[in-house]
Amino acid sequence: MAALQPVRGTRDLIGEDQRRHQHVIETARRVAESYGFDPWTTPIFEDTRVFARTLGETSDVVTKEMYSFQDRGGDGITLRPEGTAGVCRALVSNGLTQSLPQKVFYAGPMFRYERPQKGRYRQFHQIGLELIGPAEPLADAEAIACGHAILAALGVAGQVVLELNTLGDAESRAAYRAALVAYFTAHEAALSADSRERLARNPLRILDSKDEGDRRIVADAPTIVPFLTTAAAEFYAGLKRALDAFGVPFVENPRIVRGLDYYGHTAFEFVTTALGAQGTVMGGGRYDGLIGEMGGPATPAVGWAAGVERLAMLLAEPPAAAVAIAVIPVDAATETAAIGVLQQLRAAGLRAEMAYRGNLKRRMERANRIGARAAIILGPDDLAAGVAQVKDLASGSQLAVALSALAAHFA
Ligand code: HAM
Repeated sequence: MAALQPVRGTRDLIGEDQRRHQHVIETARRVAESYGFDPWTTPIFEDTRVFARTLGETSDVVTKEMYSFQDRGGDGITLRPEGTAGVCRALVSNGLTQSLPQKVFYAGPMFRYERPQKGRYRQFHQIGLELIGPAEPLADAEAIACGHAILAALGVAGQVVLELNTLGDAESRAAYRAALVAYFTAHEAALSADSRERLARNPLRILDSKDEGDRRIVADAPTIVPFLTTAAAEFYAGLKRALDAFGVPFVENPRIVRGLDYYGHTAFEFVTTALGAQGTVMGGGRYDGLIGEMGGPATPAVGWAAGVERLAMLLAEPPAAAVAIAVIPVDAATETAAIGVLQQLRAAGLRAEMAYRGNLKRRMERANRIGARAAIILGPDDLAAGVAQVKDLASGSQLAVALSALAAHFA
């Protein structure tokens, strides 16, 4: 059989890739916990109905990109294309809708049948937050501030810009939608085929079109601002004040509409020019209707998700792997004592390794090859005296250390 390849749009995370990925997730979890977010893990696949209506029947994700199938029992299953719907489903199924607020952090794989390119995969990973319960713009600002703090902790905040928009409330959106339909209908002949189709189904999505001709028409399209109700305008003003108070810089971009349909009021994206076409590293907003659609009580919520692969690519330096200490028995008779030393170091949290075979010379060569910082050499005379030789592999210097003090020596 010919050697098998990974499925198109999927990739293996090994070595530096894995370390970058892990660093993003662990940094995010740590910062999110300081903001009061608790990690949740929900299943990677769900009943298809968790996603089909809630994400938007006309959204690209639902119409073209879901990995949906019938399992052997005939149930309609979908590999999750995003994390928010599953978290809301979990909130309802676990009876937590009366225990609010819930502040949820998650990390894990998502699946979308998209055309793969740099920064875009069919299995990718997200970190995300959902802040469920509060209706105040302070919550939106806190979620965004936490996202910004994660980007800062990763050292990439300087490469991204926060773009902010409001989608208003249902009343504002209905008025805006009518204005957009009128405007785009007047330019219908010049729109791309995709956008002509969106005109009837979801005209806001035309604002997001990548087509050059569409973009020229979009440039003069009305913005939502004059259509905002007083309440929606106040909400947006409150959000901007709160972001200022958190010290999070932003620019307003009235063209941000987001690819999923559950948003109202806040919509935002952190974007970069450093990754080519796939420049959105983090995106989210407010979704006050979703939990109601999921069969729970009407519950306000706001959140975001970020692409781990995209953040990993932005990291300047990959975090280094922990450097090992090589334990080297000089002969078979000292191997048992060497295993004791190995375990003493590991129990102290040190990375310690011992080759499975080989004489002293071979084992020293291997210690150098794996980039060990030190070698602990165990010979019969030293063992009888209760010591081992510790050789610093960078400087070459060597000294005798009591066996019982080895872990402390490297602490
Ligand atoms: P989204 O904008 O669809 O939002 O995805 C969030 C982020 O996931 C994107 O900005 C991007 O960095 C990353 N991403 C999306 N698709 C891919 C892909 N095919 N390959 C690599 N990275 C990708 C959501 O998923 C919402 N659930 C966010 C949210 C949470 N809204 C409220 N709460």
